[in-house]
Amino acid sequence: MAASLSMVAWPLTVVSLLVASAAIMNGGGGGGGAQAQPIVPAVISFGDSTIDVGNNNYLPGAVFKADYAPYGQDFVRHEATGRFSDGKIVTDITAETLGFQSYAPPYLSPQVSGKNLLIGANFASAASSYYDDTAAMYDAITLTQQLKYYKEYQSKLAAVAGHAKARAILADALYVVSTGTGDFLQNYYHNASLSRRYNVDQYCDLLVGIFSGFADELYRLGARRIGVTSMPPLGCLPASIRLYGEGRDACVPRLNRDAETFNEKLNATVKALRRRHADLKLAIFDIYTPLRELAQDPAAYGFANARGTCCRTGTAKTRVYLCNPTTAGACRNASSYVFFDAVHPSEAANVFMAESMIEAGIELVT
Ligand SMILES: *[C@@H]1O[C@H](CO)[C@@H](O)[C@H](O)[C@H]1NC(C)=O
Ligand SMILES: *[C@@H]1O[C@H](CO)[C@@H](O)[C@H](O)[C@H]1NC(C)=O
Ligand SMILES: *[C@@H]1O[C@H](CO)[C@@H](O)[C@H](O)[C@H]1NC(C)=O
Repeated sequence: MAASLSMVAWPLTVVSLLVASAAIMNGGGGGGGAQAQPIVPAVISFGDSTIDVGNNNYLPGAVFKADYAPYGQDFVRHEATGRFSDGKIVTDITAETLGFQSYAPPYLSPQVSGKNLLIGANFASAASSYYDDTAAMYDAITLTQQLKYYKEYQSKLAAVAGHAKARAILADALYVVSTGTGDFLQNYYHNASLSRRYNVDQYCDLLVGIFSGFADELYRLGARRIGVTSMPPLGCLPASIRLYGEGRDACVPRLNRDAETFNEKLNATVKALRRRHADLKLAIFDIYTPLRELAQDPAAYGFANARGTCCRTGTAKTRVYLCNPTTAGACRNASSYVFFDAVHPSEAANVFMAESMIEAGIELVT
């Protein structure tokens, strides 16, 4: 079962480290000790399908949705929720490790009210990206609009918790930004006008500049702990190999180099942001390295398949990227696949990646 899988695979040293630091932060755990408090009060997420938990289900026009089987086949109640995986996504695993009993609901859902506001909010939208134009092409929620929703969330939270408590929650919350793949796969690589206007280096500067402005704005609005994911190994995604691999059954080096270019610039920008805001904790969650390792040597990590996809893909609207809703069935055992569909990892691969995210996350929450 999915839940027990992540329990077994979870690195106990990391968990105990986090629990120990939580005890220190809570003053040595001197309370009554009934219910363990999460290490941070809330998790607030922005980005694309890597952390969308169902916002796109509420957008009639959105092209990318995961509201049908086999998405969610290994999740709670074996139902599709809008998560692009068979089971948990990376932020679900992170939230559990931080001690949360439930996940922040998608911001557009009717559940976003009252006490549910206290544990955070999720503004992510599949096919969104750094560049608003990319999101707009797929009727996803642009990053600019996600920030507007966040401001609205701040007022709703203040109404429920009071202004002082809301400010404290917002300052101690963990903010996660996970996006950017779409700017390449869903836009740059097949958009001649865009690639004429910018070479890869300039395009990465543009995207990283958008992140920098976004982080500045989050800081201005009260965020003090921000984690941003690196660009994944674009050339190892099954969709990329099919579209750009020229028939070879291997990661596409050119696309991975583009991701590395982006990641180097992200690194430099993160350093500049830290210099600019002395009291901002900002970390990169490196998903590039673990996902590339899985894609290149799956057997070393207990996976059987890193090239195929667990579900059958391909529809007119979503091309080769997503599971096909009309072709029934998926593979028997999603945990033996690195990729569930042609761009999104399986829960088992997410567990592996969350491990390196948590290591970077420790510096954010202590
Ligand atoms: C190309 O990119 C621009 C800017 O992102 C966008 O406005 C335009 O719709 C895109 N065109 C195509 C054909 O994808
Ligand atoms: C980013 O910087 C860290 C050290 O600050 C380094 O370990 C890492 O390799 C760098 N990553 C890239 C992609 O340059
Ligand atoms: C599913 O695959 C994983 C990883 O390859 C393996 O450890 C596990 O035993 C498999 N489970 C079943 C029920 O076959």
